[in-house]
Amino acid sequence: MMSRLFFALWPDDKTRERMFAICRALPDDYGRRVVRQNLHLTLAFLGGVDEETKRKLLSGAASIHSEGFSLAMTHLGWFKRAQVLWLAPDSVPDALLKLVAAINSVVSQYHLKVDKRPYAPHLTLVRKAQRAVRELSFEPIYWNINHFCLVESDTRPEGAEYKIIGSWPLS
Ligand code: 2AM
Repeated sequence: MMSRLFFALWPDDKTRERMFAICRALPDDYGRRVVRQNLHLTLAFLGGVDEETKRKLLSGAASIHSEGFSLAMTHLGWFKRAQVLWLAPDSVPDALLKLVAAINSVVSQYHLKVDKRPYAPHLTLVRKAQRAVRELSFEPIYWNINHFCLVESDTRPEGAEYKIIGSWPLS
């Protein structure tokens, strides 16, 4: 059976709540909010993966030794084509880029396609967002990151359901 997988940073409950508060402050008719429990920051999207590769990814990820870091989530942006409103950090720490590189190196060992575009960390808040948001001010959200996850996505008509299938500490 194929699983749809991605590596992600999964916010702790308090941070998640703060992120969701931004969604709540948006107008009701503005797109489709990501449900609170689904908020995450993707590190690498893998797409459909077979059982054997999934097992290899789980052991490959366990061999990653990377450092923890924190992100100051400070600004909102909008992808016009994808119709996505997102939250992003003010700067991208080296430790985040190193983690993504380590994951991509594991991923490429199993001949899975690695996204060649430069990594642009963003946390999707709203889908089907038809316009940018200009006037919304919020306090920066300081997010301490001490683990990363492998997540399985089950796409359903009522929305995606995510299950964390592996989680590894960052030092
Ligand atoms: P997005 O939030 O910008 O849509 C699960 O789908 C996660 O993987 C989402 O965070 C999504 O980013 C990300 N992702 C990256 N590339 C993707 C792709 N080609 N198809 C689906 N999701 C992708």
